[in-house]
Amino acid sequence: MAPTTLIAPSILASDFARLGEEVEAIDRAGADWIHLDVMDGHFVPNITFGPAVIAALRGRTTKPFDVHLMIAPADPYLAAFAEAGADTITVHPEAGPHLHRSLQTIKALGKKAGVALNPATPIDVLAHILDLADLILVMSVNPGFGGQRFVPGSVEKVKAVRDMIGARDILIEVDGGINAENAGALIRAGADVLVAGSSVFKGGDYARNIAALRGGAAAGRTARGRR
Ligand code: DX5
Ligand code: ZN
Repeated sequence: MAPTTLIAPSILASDFARLGEEVEAIDRAGADWIHLDVMDGHFVPNITFGPAVIAALRGRTTKPFDVHLMIAPADPYLAAFAEAGADTITVHPEAGPHLHRSLQTIKALGKKAGVALNPATPIDVLAHILDLADLILVMSVNPGFGGQRFVPGSVEKVKAVRDMIGARDILIEVDGGINAENAGALIRAGADVLVAGSSVFKGGDYARNIAALRGGAAAGRTARGRR
């Protein structure tokens, strides 16, 4: 369990014409990590950006880059994302034939390795790779787009992942449809990192929006402490 909840704004909801300034703005507004959604129009029905854009943004902040790969195959590009400045690289098990090998590759590149579970992906896929994982990303929407509605069963899934990882040093991240209202339930269930796109960038007051997420999360932490 992380000592405090980490907030990872997704720049998918930012103004792509001003990406560098947007990264600086969420850094100033209190982001802990910068979440970067890479999409290929094949694994998911949307296309975003690749290693060149991430490398260009790297100089704009010292906060960790949390790179969420929604691409298939992912293996041929892992080194490029590591070189671009990723700190954590997360892959989906469906994106390649050998999840264990993908995680080995990420670790060999000196990066933290994450596994992302779609809403329909059972947590059983984690059973034999936990020793290689630094992070489990529970998707609370189907991947591909920001601004979707939170899938309610995600709270139970976070609990199940929390039970499965036990005392291992692995963070649980949740991604999709997260706001100040559902943050508490996710933290209470065992989440450590909250990804948020729409709820951070809406209205333009990023600091206020991040503070609202932290407020929701704090209520969940208090409840979790009592559990
Ligand atoms: C969806 C992405 C998410 C997305 C979250 O495929 O993985 O990171 O940006 O956006 P919101 O918070 O708007 O659901
Ligand atoms: Zn994401």
